[in-house]
Amino acid sequence: MISNINKKKIIVTGCAGFIGSHLVDKLLAINLHVIGIDNYSTGNKKFLNKAFKNNKFKFFKSDLKNLVKLKKIFKGSSMVFHFSANADVRFGIKHPRKDLEENTIVTYNVLEAMRKNRISKIVFCSTGSVYGEPNKFPTPENYSFPIQTSFYAASKLAGESLIQAYCEAYGFKTWIFRFVSILGNRYSHGHVYDFYKQLMKHPNYLNCLGDGNQRKSYLNVNDCINAIILAIKRSKKKVNIFNIGTNEYVNVKQSINVICKYLKLKPKIIFTGGKRGWVGDSPFIFLSTKKIRLLGWKPKFTIKESIIQTIIYLKNNKWIFKKRK
Ligand SMILES: NC(=O)c1ccc[n+]([C@@H]2O[C@H](COP(=O)([O-])OP(=O)(O)OC[C@H]3O[C@@H](n4cnc5c(N)ncnc54)[C@H](O)[C@@H]3O)[C@@H](O)[C@H]2O)c1
Repeated sequence: MISNINKKKIIVTGCAGFIGSHLVDKLLAINLHVIGIDNYSTGNKKFLNKAFKNNKFKFFKSDLKNLVKLKKIFKGSSMVFHFSANADVRFGIKHPRKDLEENTIVTYNVLEAMRKNRISKIVFCSTGSVYGEPNKFPTPENYSFPIQTSFYAASKLAGESLIQAYCEAYGFKTWIFRFVSILGNRYSHGHVYDFYKQLMKHPNYLNCLGDGNQRKSYLNVNDCINAIILAIKRSKKKVNIFNIGTNEYVNVKQSINVICKYLKLKPKIIFTGGKRGWVGDSPFIFLSTKKIRLLGWKPKFTIKESIIQTIIYLKNNKWIFKKRK
C-alpha cells in the first residue's frame, strides 16, 4: 500500500491517454478506487478496457476546462494524479493558446477543484523539456531553466509553478515528475509512431526531421509508472521533484536503425536537415536520475527493448493510426 495514498478515491485526469491508462491499471491492481476523467481528445476508450471491467473504476467523459463540473467530480476524493495535457510538443507554434489552455489553465482548474474539495495531494506529469537546451548532462533537477524553447515546456513549467504556489499558500503536497520521452504498449504519439506510420505507407523511404543526430533518452511506460508509485511512497517533502529517465540515450539515426532492423527494411533516409527537428526541439535530452535511483528505483527496460516493444505494439494495433494524426 502506498502510505501517501489513503483508501479514499483517487482522481486520474487524462486516464484514457497512453501513460494515464497504465497508471489506472496499476492503481486498480493495488486495490484502490479510481475516478478517471478524460475527454478522449487524444485518449482512447480501448485503453480502459481492463479498467471498465473493475467496479472500483468510475469514468467521467468530461473536459477539464469545465471547472464547475470538475469541482463536482472531485467531491469525496483524496488525491489527484494530473496526467492530462496537450502532449504534442511539435505543433505548439501552430496554436500557442492550446498549450496555455490545456496545460496551464487546466492545471489551475485542477488545483481550484482540489481546493474547493479540500484535497491536498497532487501528482503532476511535467517534462524534461523544461530545461530548454541545457549545457549540463545528465541534467539534474536543480539545474536552472532560464530560457524556454517550446510552448509546451513553458506551459508545463507554469503548471509546476502554480502547483508549488498552491503548496505554499494552502498546504498542498506535490510530486512533480519530469519525464524523458516514454515508449511501450499503448504508445500513440512520438517519433517511433511517426516512423512506423511512414514505413507502413512507403517502406522504401523515410522522411526524418532534422539531421538525425538529435540525442534523446527514452523510458518504458512500465518503468515510468513504477518510478512514480515508488517516489510517492518514499518521498515526504511538501514539494518533491524528480527526473525520470534511463542512464542511456540514442540519436535518431540509431533509433531508425533499431526500427528498420526489426522490421527488416532498408529505406532511404531523407533528412530535412538542421540540429532540431522542429522549433522547440531540444537537440539533446538526457536527465540525471540519481535522485530517484537513490530511493531504490531503476528501470528494467533498455531503450532498444522499449523501441522494439513499441513497434510490436503498433504492428498489432494498427487501429491506433486511424484515431490520431
Ligand atoms: N509521452 C511522453 O513521452 C511524455 C513525456 C513527458 C511528459 N509527458 C506528460 O505525461 C502526461 C501523459 O502523456 P501521454 O503521453 O499519456 O499523452 P496522451 O495524449 O496520450 O494523454 C493525455 C490524455 O489527456 C486527455 N485530455 C487532454 N486534454 C483534456 C481535457 N481538456 N479534458 C479532459 N481530458 C483531456 C486526452 O484525451 C488523453 O487521454 C502528459 O501530461 C504529458 O505532457 C508525456
